[in-house]
Amino acid sequence: MAKVISIANQKGGVGKTTTAINLSSSLAAAEKKTLLIDIDPQANSSSGLDISNHTPSVYEVLIGQKKMEDVIVNSYLSYLDVLPSNINLVGAEIEMVEMPYRESLLKSAIGSIKEKYEFIIIDCPPSLGLLTLNALSTSDSVLIPVQCEYFALEGLGQLLNTINIVRQHFNKELQIEGVLLTMFDTRLRLSHQVAEEVKKYFGEKVFSTVIHRNVRISEAPSFGKPVLLYDAISSGSKNYISLASELLIRNSK
Ligand SMILES: Nc1ncnc2c1ncn2[C@@H]1O[C@H](COP(=O)(O)OP(=O)(O)O)[C@@H](O)[C@H]1O
Ligand SMILES: [Mg+2]
Repeated sequence: MAKVISIANQKGGVGKTTTAINLSSSLAAAEKKTLLIDIDPQANSSSGLDISNHTPSVYEVLIGQKKMEDVIVNSYLSYLDVLPSNINLVGAEIEMVEMPYRESLLKSAIGSIKEKYEFIIIDCPPSLGLLTLNALSTSDSVLIPVQCEYFALEGLGQLLNTINIVRQHFNKELQIEGVLLTMFDTRLRLSHQVAEEVKKYFGEKVFSTVIHRNVRISEAPSFGKPVLLYDAISSGSKNYISLASELLIRNSK
């Protein structure tokens, strides 16, 4: 039975999509059968794995027109499948407002798919709207990327509040998988300060793996590849492989 992990933070540009693509690819490289669900209308996780403008998409799954197994596509990695997003999803949040059990549409759709994978990673949009609520209601845990930048902790209170609301109403079991420091720059004092502050606040929830700023990570999506296929020996590739191992070790206890 798959462990379902949402990558969430309502702030844009903190490394959610980068983490979704590269964590799921690293898990797949470790021969863990993985599904990446892209639930962001911007569809960056899909295009970053060379699956663009794909229809049907998660949109048809959410509104009940298609079954998940009929929409899932294979990636270049044999252990990684993708449930792609599409710009159509922009309208879904509005359509979903009218639907009964609107926070649990993804959870109902996921059904038996969970038996086919070891991990399901969900890339969330930069908001705490219905799409993110659907992701959190479906998940066993949430991984929170935090960019080592000014105002890193800003808005995290709101995210934790949303997690509590989801626990109360839709998903009692939702855990925090961990907090991931992203775009760390060893040379910048600010990066070290932010890391200290985040560790003070989240304690051992913070992953020991830190994702460093690395240009190969930002180049890879334009080639439709995860960084480990684009440049296997880059620091970005090593950091995400290390994150996957840490996650596997944490989950084997
Ligand atoms: N470790 C990193 N090193 C360099 N650039 C990064 C790194 N992580 C993310 N980026 C870049 O930062 C931008 C925002 O990242 P992204 O993963 O799309 O954030 P989000 O999904 O949270 O909006 C992208 O252009 C991405 O390529
Ligand atoms: Mg994104």
